[in-house]
Amino acid sequence: MTRPIALVTGATRGIGRAVVDILAPDHHVLVGGRDAAAVDEIVTQLPSGAPFVADLTDADAVASACEGIDRLDVVVHSAGVEMGGEQADLSREDWGRVLELNVIALADLNRQLTPALRAAKGLVVAINSGSGFTSRAGGGAYAASKFALRAWTDALREEEREHGVRVSSVHPGRVDTEMQQRIQNLGDDYDGSLYLRPESVAKAVRFVVDATEDAVVEEVSIRPRG
Ligand SMILES: NC(=O)c1ccc[n+]([C@@H]2O[C@H](COP(=O)([O-])OP(=O)(O)OC[C@H]3O[C@@H](n4cnc5c(N)ncnc54)[C@H](OP(=O)(O)O)[C@@H]3O)[C@@H](O)[C@H]2O)c1
Repeated sequence: MTRPIALVTGATRGIGRAVVDILAPDHHVLVGGRDAAAVDEIVTQLPSGAPFVADLTDADAVASACEGIDRLDVVVHSAGVEMGGEQADLSREDWGRVLELNVIALADLNRQLTPALRAAKGLVVAINSGSGFTSRAGGGAYAASKFALRAWTDALREEEREHGVRVSSVHPGRVDTEMQQRIQNLGDDYDGSLYLRPESVAKAVRFVVDATEDAVVEEVSIRPRG
C-alpha cells in the first residue's frame, strides 16, 4: 500500500462521510460504521478503501475490526452521539450512553490503534465541538463528554509526542447533519442553511491532515458565519 491509510469513524453520514470524500483522492480509507451494507456501498465508490464495521461500544467487535491494522497514518474520530436534557431529567442510562460512545469507546479504539499509529508516526483527529469549550442549559451531558474528550486529546498529544504521533482537536459549531436535525426535532423552523455544511468541517480536517511535518495543528474552531 503506497497511499497513506486513514480510518474514519462515523463515516456513514454527516461529518464523517464528508471527511471520507475529502481524504479519498489520495488516501486508502477505512470506512467506519455499524451497518455493513451502508459501509460497503461507500467503499465501492472510493478509489481505494476497505470497510471497518463495528459498533464502537462493542469491545469484541472493535477488537476484531482492528485486527490486521499494523500501520495507520490518520484516524478521524467522528462517531458520536448527542444528548440533550436538563440535569434534573437525565438518567444514569443517558449519562452512560453519551460518555460511552463519545469518550470511552473512542479512547479504547485509539488505544488499540496506538501501535499502528506509532508505526506510521500518524495523526489522531478528534471531532470535538463548540460544546468542548462551553456548556449551556440543556446541553450539560453532551458538553461534559466533549470537555472530557478535550482533556483526553490534550493528554494524548503530550504522551504521543515522543512517539511522533500528532493529535488534533477540531471543534465545529452547529453542522447541518442528521444529528443537528435530531437535536432540533426537525421543527418547522429548522433551516440547515444557517449551519456549517459537513464539507466545510471536512475542509478543516483536511487542513489538519496537510500540516507540514514540523507542525501539529492542535486545535481548530470552526463556526457558522451567520
Ligand atoms: N452536527 C453538529 O452540529 C455537530 C457539531 C459539533 C460537533 N459534532 C460532532 O461531530 C461528530 C459527527 O457528528 P454528525 O453530526 O456527523 O453525526 P451524525 O450525522 O449523527 O452521524 C453520526 C455517525 O456516528 C455513527 N455512530 C453512531 N453511534 C455509533 C456507534 N455506537 N458505533 C459506531 N458508529 C456510530 C453513525 O453511524 P450509523 O449510521 O451506524 O448510525 C454515524 O455515521 C460527532 O462526534 C458530533 O458530536 C457535531
